[in-house]
Amino acid sequence: MKVLITGAGGFLGRGLVVPFEERGDSLRLMDVVSFSSRHETVIGDVADLETVMKAAAGMEAIVIAHMAPRTNNSYDFPTLPFDINVKGTANLFHAAVKNGIKKVVVISSTSVMDYCKSENLPHDLPPMSRGFYGLSKVCQEMIAESFALEHKIRVACLRVGYIVDGDKNVDKYGRKIEERAPLDTDRRDIGEVARLFLDREDLTFERFTVMSTPEAMIPWDLRYTCERLNWKPKYDFSWLRIPPNK
Ligand SMILES: NC(=O)c1ccc[n+]([C@@H]2O[C@H](COP(=O)([O-])OP(=O)(O)OC[C@H]3O[C@@H](n4cnc5c(N)ncnc54)[C@H](O)[C@@H]3O)[C@@H](O)[C@H]2O)c1
Repeated sequence: MKVLITGAGGFLGRGLVVPFEERGDSLRLMDVVSFSSRHETVIGDVADLETVMKAAAGMEAIVIAHMAPRTNNSYDFPTLPFDINVKGTANLFHAAVKNGIKKVVVISSTSVMDYCKSENLPHDLPPMSRGFYGLSKVCQEMIAESFALEHKIRVACLRVGYIVDGDKNVDKYGRKIEERAPLDTDRRDIGEVARLFLDREDLTFERFTVMSTPEAMIPWDLRYTCERLNWKPKYDFSWLRIPPNK
């Protein structure tokens, strides 16, 4: 499958590609910051429609995994989250329609579920949030659902937990993870779920939670993802100790 992945040079992107590589997909990797890769790369801004149109040309699927950087308190202001996360997502869906691309995966976040204080959250809880990060993720999901309905694009919003490099046990900021938490999510597990969804011809619009730990099965409705996609996490962080009193 020919797949465009945005934010591919980022923390998630660098691990998410692995299951796609294992299947021998033809990848076009896009990021605004240059990075080295053995795949075709596009260095450009997702907020620029012309660039996005060129990046999407000839592709069969898109995985939207970019995000505005958190530097300079950028999420205290609406400009970058909305210019990059939201406008970038709208540009990519527009480009999908114009290029006849029928499958898209949007990397969302559990932040769109945080408002609900229930112990067990359904995977398809309507998105709602506060703050410019959470609001930008809500808008991404709303754009995704709208395009899925209007243009018959098959779309999955992956509500991913706390992303960790399961080989080094570090998060995006290089912080060491010593204990297992329910939301811990290996980047490759996210890639695997995205890839499994893209293989499916029978699914239209889906919201999935994606974590790697058994502790997320019921509280975060991870079992739905497992059952629906016939998947189970490969990197379950079983090698990390569980904190006492859990
Ligand atoms: N890190 C986590 O724990 C976590 C948790 C939940 C959801 N997510 C989601 O995962 C996705 C990836 O996050 P990440 O942690 O890998 O972030 P990251 O900052 O490491 O990666 C994002 C990438 O997007 C690129 N980017 C920024 N602006 C761009 C633009 N204008 N055009 C093209 N590319 C641009 C950046 O250069 C970067 O490489 C995001 O959608 C984020 O909301 C992350």
